[in-house]
Amino acid sequence: MAEREIWSAADLLARLEHRGKFFILDVRNREEFERVRLEGRTPLPAVNVPYFEMLELGGKDDMLDSVIAYMERELASQLPRDQPILAVCAKGDTSDYVAQGLSRLGYASATLKGGMKVWSEHYSARTVVEDADLAIYQISRPARGCLSYIVAGAGKAIVIDALRHLHPYLDLARNLDWVHSRGLEITAVIDTHGHADHISGGTALAAAAGAPYYLHPFDAIHPTDVLPATIAYNFISDGQAFPIGRHELKALHIPGHTLGLVALRLGDRYLFTGDSIFIRSVARPDLGGKAEAWAPLHARSLRRLLTLPGGITVLPGHFSTLDEADDSGRFAGTLDDLKKRNEGLQVLQREGEAGFIRYLLESLPRFNPDYLDIKRVNAGLLKPAEEDAATLELGKNVCALSQAYTATGGAS
Ligand SMILES: [Fe+2]
Repeated sequence: MAEREIWSAADLLARLEHRGKFFILDVRNREEFERVRLEGRTPLPAVNVPYFEMLELGGKDDMLDSVIAYMERELASQLPRDQPILAVCAKGDTSDYVAQGLSRLGYASATLKGGMKVWSEHYSARTVVEDADLAIYQISRPARGCLSYIVAGAGKAIVIDALRHLHPYLDLARNLDWVHSRGLEITAVIDTHGHADHISGGTALAAAAGAPYYLHPFDAIHPTDVLPATIAYNFISDGQAFPIGRHELKALHIPGHTLGLVALRLGDRYLFTGDSIFIRSVARPDLGGKAEAWAPLHARSLRRLLTLPGGITVLPGHFSTLDEADDSGRFAGTLDDLKKRNEGLQVLQREGEAGFIRYLLESLPRFNPDYLDIKRVNAGLLKPAEEDAATLELGKNVCALSQAYTATGGAS
């Protein structure tokens, strides 16, 4: 009998980030596997056989014997002997059973604890900077490619683009032990825009922390329903400053991805770009159903951002593939660096606004109809139960243009 390990979501993320070698035996049904898969820095070898098929076709009375018989007969030629095999299912129960079978057959095996459900709700926090008077933490939800931030100074914190689950922010704010400050008081929660790809935790976090919630008023109207948001929010306007200790975040209104999108600039050091500039790509302009009207705004906004100091560090609202992270798992790059690496910015610099608009309109990825409902949820127009909220958030975000990723097989 070979070794059988249990991997937590954090264990899995570490292996994905460090390009650990393993093979995936995914036992969810085919539709689920096609819809949402594990993705690493490089493509992951995987085979999908639904668990119930193994049971049915294994042909034994005992369930485990059936699974073992099936794998021995049908999968032996595909399963590697030189690396662990990670069994994956929806909630981590059947995969544990499959991993037991694998280890009985002499394979080094592992099971993903909690399955894809726990993976999809896993958050990871990375330190961007921790000076005496400024700390920034990037909080990612790796399964979805969503990024959010805590910006802290003098014991206070501003949260940018809080994601649906509040514990990563509340726990970090409560437990942080940083220079002179034990714990942080959340004094403001800001959404850079009305999100379409994920349910914002902004208003709930603001309520939990007793802090004001900020959104640009243009994004407090559902773009296709044209109904006003029912959430309580404070206006953000261009140039507005949010003090944080000795520093301040300054809002730049950069419409394009949405009409109310803002970036937040911390001096010449950091630029929280929301959904405008990502690491490898730029945001899509069509999620409000008005691509042709919004693409020119997007072009103008990005030109405005390109005039900022080249040494400013861009901290984006999303990533599309894990290989956009640096060696320490952070998604960040200086503006000068991104001008060279980012396909959208290269097109804008090379071909000007007209060429860039053409490029935008030719690179639009598939439109996910769930995004209309997610926008309704974020505007307070729809209140889903937890299970429905999780379903709306299945899979990776598609906020970036597709073209920059087609070469690597990423979001398209
Ligand atoms: Fe977005």
